Amino acid sequence: MPYTAVLIPGDGIGPEVAHAACEILAAAKAPIEWVEAKAGVAALEAGESELLPAATVEAIQKHRVALKGPCTTPVGGGFSSVNVALRKRLDLYGAVRPVRSLDGVATRFSGVDLVVIRENTEGLYAGIENEITRGVVTSMKVATRDACLRIADFAFRYAVHRKRRKVSVFHKANIMKLSDGLFIRCAREVRDAKFPQIEYEELIIDAACMRLVQDPTRFDVLLMENLYGDVLSDLCAGLVGGLGVVPGANLGEHAAVFEAVHGSAPDIAGKGIANPLAITMSAVMMLNAIAEAHSDAALAATATRIREAYDRALVDGCKTRDLGGALSTSAFAKAVIDRL
Ligand code: NAI
Repeated sequence: MPYTAVLIPGDGIGPEVAHAACEILAAAKAPIEWVEAKAGVAALEAGESELLPAATVEAIQKHRVALKGPCTTPVGGGFSSVNVALRKRLDLYGAVRPVRSLDGVATRFSGVDLVVIRENTEGLYAGIENEITRGVVTSMKVATRDACLRIADFAFRYAVHRKRRKVSVFHKANIMKLSDGLFIRCAREVRDAKFPQIEYEELIIDAACMRLVQDPTRFDVLLMENLYGDVLSDLCAGLVGGLGVVPGANLGEHAAVFEAVHGSAPDIAGKGIANPLAITMSAVMMLNAIAEAHSDAALAATATRIREAYDRALVDGCKTRDLGGALSTSAFAKAVIDRL
């Protein structure tokens, strides 16, 4: 029986990389039936009146699982982020971004294997900004005890489930004493009450960044609020080869939206050169999540086959330009398919 999942191609390179990922899944005979939905600029261009049409949200609520391409958000004005809106509407409070070294991708470090867990619903992303008077603006950072406890519990449960040993909280509670102070107090409370077996540390984020780029292998699960998680996800991607190789999932109690960490990359959109690996890895995360929810060993095996195929493609030197290769998006997808 096929599983149904929503596919949101998104903007910029989104449709190119989403198409490649779907081709790989189809070639692997992953039993997924896609329901396509629009979001972002692509929704407006398709004649919708909203960037995030109600039908798209309803489709995800109905099918509970989606694979999403990136959606563009204009800088310094214009409309608010569709990505942030989607996460809030579906209460996808926990972002999970696994960052691991790949054998075929040479970087400064080997053996990097960490996971960024990002609180996805509040912080400065609450979007409460005011112009108090001409030339004076404020942006309000929101932290609630409920959301801080919830994401801490999520991170420690993830660590236990994935047999991880340590959770490191990155914060700036020396300056943001109330908001980041609440975040670390909640993390400490959850850890002490329920997860004493997991090693735990709190690091001020500036020094933590230095330690990360000096030796990322000392880290395991990283827990942080929204903005820090956004920034650190890209930093960590840079440690293992860039945005083309880091997948992600936005998880809530009732729905899961899988998407790469990268954005719509307008500088290379339409050229057929984007790396489809990050969204393919996100699709593999999706297959594994469905397999786990349905105790479907065959589907888990299909996910593993795809992962082994792209790992092998990279080792064989099949790479897109961002990784120093010359393959187009579709040629890389074909290289993976050839190795399934
Ligand atoms: P970006 O991630 O789109 O691009 C940063 C750089 O990485 C660019 O040079 C781009 O060409 C390269 N890059 C990204 N993905 C790549 C891939 N798969 N293959 C090869 N190269 C890749 O970040 P940027 O430029 O800051 O944002 C562009 C737009 O994307 C903005 O409108 C932003 O709001 C949006 N965005 C959307 C996200 C989402 O939908 N979840 C996440 C991040 C940004």
